[in-house]
Amino acid sequence: MSIALQESTQLHNGVQMPWLGLGVWQVKEGNEIVSSVKHALQVGYRSIDTAAIYGNEEGVGKAIAEAGIPREELFVTTKVWNADQGYESTLQAFEESKKKLGLDYIDLYLIHWPVKGKYNDTWKALEKLYKDGQVRAIGVSNFQIHHLQDLMSQSEIVPMVNQVEYHPLLNQKELLAFCQEHKIQLEAWSPLMQGNLDLPLLQELSGKYQKSAAQIVLRWDLQNKVVTIPKSITAHRMEENAQVFDFELSTEDMAKLDELNQNRRFGPDPDNFDF
Ligand SMILES: NC(=O)c1ccc[n+]([C@@H]2O[C@H](COP(=O)([O-])OP(=O)(O)OC[C@H]3O[C@@H](n4cnc5c(N)ncnc54)[C@H](OP(=O)(O)O)[C@@H]3O)[C@@H](O)[C@H]2O)c1
Repeated sequence: MSIALQESTQLHNGVQMPWLGLGVWQVKEGNEIVSSVKHALQVGYRSIDTAAIYGNEEGVGKAIAEAGIPREELFVTTKVWNADQGYESTLQAFEESKKKLGLDYIDLYLIHWPVKGKYNDTWKALEKLYKDGQVRAIGVSNFQIHHLQDLMSQSEIVPMVNQVEYHPLLNQKELLAFCQEHKIQLEAWSPLMQGNLDLPLLQELSGKYQKSAAQIVLRWDLQNKVVTIPKSITAHRMEENAQVFDFELSTEDMAKLDELNQNRRFGPDPDNFDF
């Protein structure tokens, strides 16, 4: 079991969040999610990233219950879906997620996407959940700088986390700097570019460090102080993705990786989505 998987960053409210967790988007409800999450927990993962829209919260909850790990060692994230945004509907959606997960509290609750005209009311519901002790931290996802500025100008609590698409082809330098300035922890989704790891520089660094392309990218996340949540349902890849705490990329190689940026998205653009 990898103890390093319990290494964590401190959010601005003092809560510890593991640097590396398991993403479970597109992992099927039922056997697939239960066995994946159980394997991850067995090999030392302590952070799981799900969402109401993934349709697998029940399986995540079942795996957690069966794994028998003390609750306080786990860090469970879920997210309110776009159709449920708004004050009352978010409170209701939270109850449903909590029930499906079978948990008494959630570690991190996120607004999944910045739905225009709704996200500020949604945030008020998250602030209530936080003040009521139902969640240990609250945050957003897919927020650009202007969304964060708008939200922060109208709210009491600064988000603790912003989870966005982030990888070497989309390195979000300005957003990362803005978040760091405001003590908002950036978290990378699709850190492995959804499996599109076949880039010459990654192959070169893979040979140099004797680490896989995936491990090079995940290490780049950590050295940039970005939380990362690679998804895998393959046991040996889950283990591989966790072995990123035992080497260091040189400053020159970090700079070379930065040069890969093309502002290329594999997922939707937060300024132009219609769901
Ligand atoms: N907030 C949002 O809007 C949002 C959006 C997208 C994703 N997310 C979160 O971020 C998580 C990660 O993103 P993602 O699932 O889109 O993609 P990802 O983690 O970038 O890539 C996952 C893909 O890479 C493969 N893979 C995993 N480890 C590998 C390795 N070591 N070598 C080669 N291939 C490997 C996986 O295959 P196998 O599974 O077959 O092993 C899968 O096809 C999601 O699961 C979800 O929790 C959030």
